[in-house]
Amino acid sequence: NKNWILMVTARSPTNIAVIKYWGKRDETLILPINDSISVTLDPEHLCTTTTVAVSPKFEEDRMWLNKKEISLSGGRFQSCLREIRSRGTDFEDEEKGIFIKKEDWKKLHVHIDSFNNFPTAAGLASSAAGFACLVYSLAKLMNVKEDEGQLSAIARQGSGSACRSLYGGFVKWSMGNDANGSDSIAVQLATEAHWDELVIIIAVVSSRQKETSSTTGMRESVETSPLLHYRSKEVVPKRILQMEEAIRTRDFPSFAKLTCADSNQFHATCLDTSPPIFYMNDTSHRQVFCMEKWNRSEGTPQVAYTFDAGPNAVLIAKNRKVATQLLQRLLFYFPPSADTELDSYLIGDKSILKD
Ligand code: PMV
Repeated sequence: NKNWILMVTARSPTNIAVIKYWGKRDETLILPINDSISVTLDPEHLCTTTTVAVSPKFEEDRMWLNKKEISLSGGRFQSCLREIRSRGTDFEDEEKGIFIKKEDWKKLHVHIDSFNNFPTAAGLASSAAGFACLVYSLAKLMNVKEDEGQLSAIARQGSGSACRSLYGGFVKWSMGNDANGSDSIAVQLATEAHWDELVIIIAVVSSRQKETSSTTGMRESVETSPLLHYRSKEVVPKRILQMEEAIRTRDFPSFAKLTCADSNQFHATCLDTSPPIFYMNDTSHRQVFCMEKWNRSEGTPQVAYTFDAGPNAVLIAKNRKVATQLLQRLLFYFPPSADTELDSYLIGDKSILKD
C-alpha cells in the first residue's frame, strides 16, 4: 500500500538568552565557547509551527517556510535530517496498514511546512524556534525514542540557540567538553511556573533582516575580538553560577543586573570585532538609557533589558504592574509611527493594556 501519508504538527516558542552565547569552537558541530542561559517565551506568541509529513509517494525532501519553498541542501538542515533519520524506530499502524521499519526512514522522503508568527531573521531568534520545532516534529514522526536532552544536541546542529527551545521556563546550554558534542546539550533549570510573575515585552524597533548573520558575526568576533575571549573565560563562568542562583531564589535585582550587564558586554564584543558589528541602533540605545534611568530612580531594578543580534529590545518586567507602567513608558517615549497599526506594534498579551 503506497497510498498513505503520515503527519505530525508541533509548535515551538523562541527563547531569549539572558547570558549570551556568542562564538563557536567548532563551526560544523556548533559547539560554543561558553555556557548560556535563556528564558523560553510563552508558546502563544513568537513561535514556529511545523508540520512534517512522510509518504512513499514523495520523491524528494522538500520544505516551505512561511509558504515559500526553500532549499534543504544546507549543511544544517542535512545534519538535523540525517541525525533524526538514523535514530528512527519501527512504526506500525495496523488499522491504516502502515508498517515502517527503522531502516526505511533513511529511504522515505519528507515534506516540511513551517510558519513563523513573527519576523524571520530580525534578531528575534527565529532560527531557534524553527530548528527546535523541526527536530522535535521529525523525531515524533520517525518514532525517535531519545529524550529532550539528546534531541537538543541535534537541534543545536541546526542553530546553536535552538537547543534551548526544547524546554520551557529557564534553560541552560552547557558548552560541554567532548569533541563530538555529545555533552553540549540543554537542560531545564526551572519550569515556567517557577517564576510566573515576570512579564516579557518585546519592542520591535525594526523587523528588517539583520545585516550581519550570527554565523558571520561570531566567526569574526572569535577571530578578532580579545574581549570575547576574556569574556568567555573570565566573565561568563561566574555569571552563569550567579544567574542560576538568581533564578533559583527569584532574586529580581540580581537577575536584572546580570541580564543587562551580559547584553551590554555581548554588544561590546561586537564593537570590539574587526570590522565592528552594530546590532543595536539609536533607538535601542535610547531604550537602554530610559530603562537605566527608571531603574535608578526607583532605587531597585524594575525592568531588565537584553538585545540579541538585532536592534529589538527584549524587556523583562518584575511583575504585571511594572509591565503596565513599562508599556505606558514605551508608548510615550517610543510611539509607533503614524502608519503602524497598534496590533502589529504590540505582539502578545494585549490584556495588559486594560490594567
Ligand atoms: O543560534 P544563533 O546562531 O541564532 O545565535 C544566537 C546568538 C544570540 O541570539 C545573539 C545569543 C543567544 O544566546 O541566543
